[in-house]
Amino acid sequence: MGPAHIQPALRSRDDRLVSLYAPVFTAIYDPLLAWGERTGMRDLRRDVLSGATGEVLELGAGTGLNINAYPPTVASLTLTEPEASMVKRLQRLGGHPRVVQAGAEDLPFDENAFDTVVSTLVLCTVEDPDQALREVRRVLRPGGRLLLIEHVRSSRPRLARIQDRLHRPWRAIGYGCNCNRDTIEALRNAGFDTTALRDARWRRMPAIVRPLIAGSAQAA
Ligand SMILES: C[S@@+](CC[C@H](N)C(=O)[O-])C[C@H]1O[C@@H](n2cnc3c(N)ncnc32)[C@H](O)[C@@H]1O
Repeated sequence: MGPAHIQPALRSRDDRLVSLYAPVFTAIYDPLLAWGERTGMRDLRRDVLSGATGEVLELGAGTGLNINAYPPTVASLTLTEPEASMVKRLQRLGGHPRVVQAGAEDLPFDENAFDTVVSTLVLCTVEDPDQALREVRRVLRPGGRLLLIEHVRSSRPRLARIQDRLHRPWRAIGYGCNCNRDTIEALRNAGFDTTALRDARWRRMPAIVRPLIAGSAQAA
């Protein structure tokens, strides 16, 4: 697998600049999220991931903030992540999960390989969410579930306009994060049943990333 597959989110000129900043983003990621984790996100991770069972694949695992939230119903855990500095962090985690350097758009796994796929704060960043969701469907066994927590485009027109306006600067400081992405629409277009997803809020974070969707989605 070549570098284009490992870092699919980093192809444009802007994105190449973002990639230079990747090790810094890795170093500051946990401190940046700490307040939000303490005031609700950690509990939300635990709640959503309580539904993980069997062979589990996590996309864009970052620094591994989900690792302590997995329940004993998980038989095996595979963490994927395209960014090399994040991969190094994941390799130092306890519990010895399998760590694979890969982007969500090109998962190096057989079809029907997993019972559960996990995506938390990742579909905002992937270069091609439609392709990533096709890959999720491919690797999920029939009846398998996608568990997710994603920040999304606001349903309130005023906040959505602000998300559109701040999209570019936010993308630069947020390591390719798109604050205005309509992930619910992408999930529906990819054939996922989204009725079990609920709205939530990412407390203590900037308003443009506060609207969340959380829960499970099954391929319809
Ligand atoms: C905001 S962080 C979320 C990290 C972690 N999932 C969490 O909940 O804290 C976004 C992550 O997505 C990763 N990422 C970027 N492009 C990706 C892609 N194409 N496929 C999968 N992950 C990607 C980034 O390297 C980063 O680790």
